[in-house]
Amino acid sequence: MKQTKILILGGKGKTGSRVVQRLQNLGYSNIRIGSRSESPAFDWENSETWAEVLKDMETVYITFQPDLAIPSAVDTIKQFTALAVELGISKMVLLSGRGEKEAQLCEEVVLKAAPNSTIVRASWFNQNFSESFFLDPILAGHVSLPRAEALEPFTDANDIADVVVQTIIDDKHNGQTYELTGPRLLTLPKAISEISKACGRNIQFQSLTLDENVNLLRSYQLPEDHIWLFNYLFEEVLDGRNATISNDIEKILGRKATDFSEFVKITAATGVWNKPVFSEEVAH
Ligand SMILES: NC(=O)c1ccc[n+]([C@@H]2O[C@H](COP(=O)([O-])OP(=O)(O)OC[C@H]3O[C@@H](n4cnc5c(N)ncnc54)[C@H](OP(=O)(O)O)[C@@H]3O)[C@@H](O)[C@H]2O)c1
Repeated sequence: MKQTKILILGGKGKTGSRVVQRLQNLGYSNIRIGSRSESPAFDWENSETWAEVLKDMETVYITFQPDLAIPSAVDTIKQFTALAVELGISKMVLLSGRGEKEAQLCEEVVLKAAPNSTIVRASWFNQNFSESFFLDPILAGHVSLPRAEALEPFTDANDIADVVVQTIIDDKHNGQTYELTGPRLLTLPKAISEISKACGRNIQFQSLTLDENVNLLRSYQLPEDHIWLFNYLFEEVLDGRNATISNDIEKILGRKATDFSEFVKITAATGVWNKPVFSEEVAH
């Protein structure tokens, strides 16, 4: 069983790196990381790289880039899963987003291509505040975002990785779709305020309208497709549809999901929110 050959796409990212670590700790040695900087390289934007990475693998964990909600995702996932099955993959675990109808089309594609697969739909990650797009504004001491009133049950990437590992190693999860959330609904300003208190820094939260946010992103000269995706995630996914808590993490792992406060306590202790030079310069 521990000989299973497992491909982890995005194996250097937030959930993938944690999944790799856990599988290695359990004694799985046939793990391949899908990454643009590995050899062979894997790039979602270059389908010619896919076959070499899929070759000789049995199970694949899919973290799509940049998001299953983008208009081209369904076609890409169709093409990728067809090739994967052709090359012998019998099981896929797809990391998906909650409440994204486009992502759900991709889920259907995966389950149709390989019925033994598992869908792991997650709410927004805690680690968006420490390893992703909210980190720089936190360091700058000023976070400006829309949907300040929206309630989201942020999930911890460690919980997601624990669940993904179970779905990979235990066939009882085949064919299932799980919804992963944290145990508490909180708003973005509340999340920032918890981080601010824990790391002893004044981090301001400025509430924007969706349009103000788009204009702000344009002023940073971000590419239009990035702006579209960012706006989609706030406008669609944070419109209240996901303001509910699921207990799938507890059902699968037999323990409670990690609360945001626990994530904040552990992460504040690493010092990641106190990188002094950048934050002090911008704050003053
Ligand atoms: N963040 C959230 O709150 C959230 C919530 C629900 C669902 N999701 C979904 O989670 C998925 C991302 O998973 P994650 O957060 O674990 O990963 P991640 O940290 O966003 O990134 C994973 C890796 O993707 C790789 N990557 C970037 N562009 C690529 C490309 N063109 N081809 C191949 N690899 C590429 C990068 O690796 P290399 O540089 O090594 O290639 C990166 O380390 C997305 O589909 C997102 O929609 C996210």
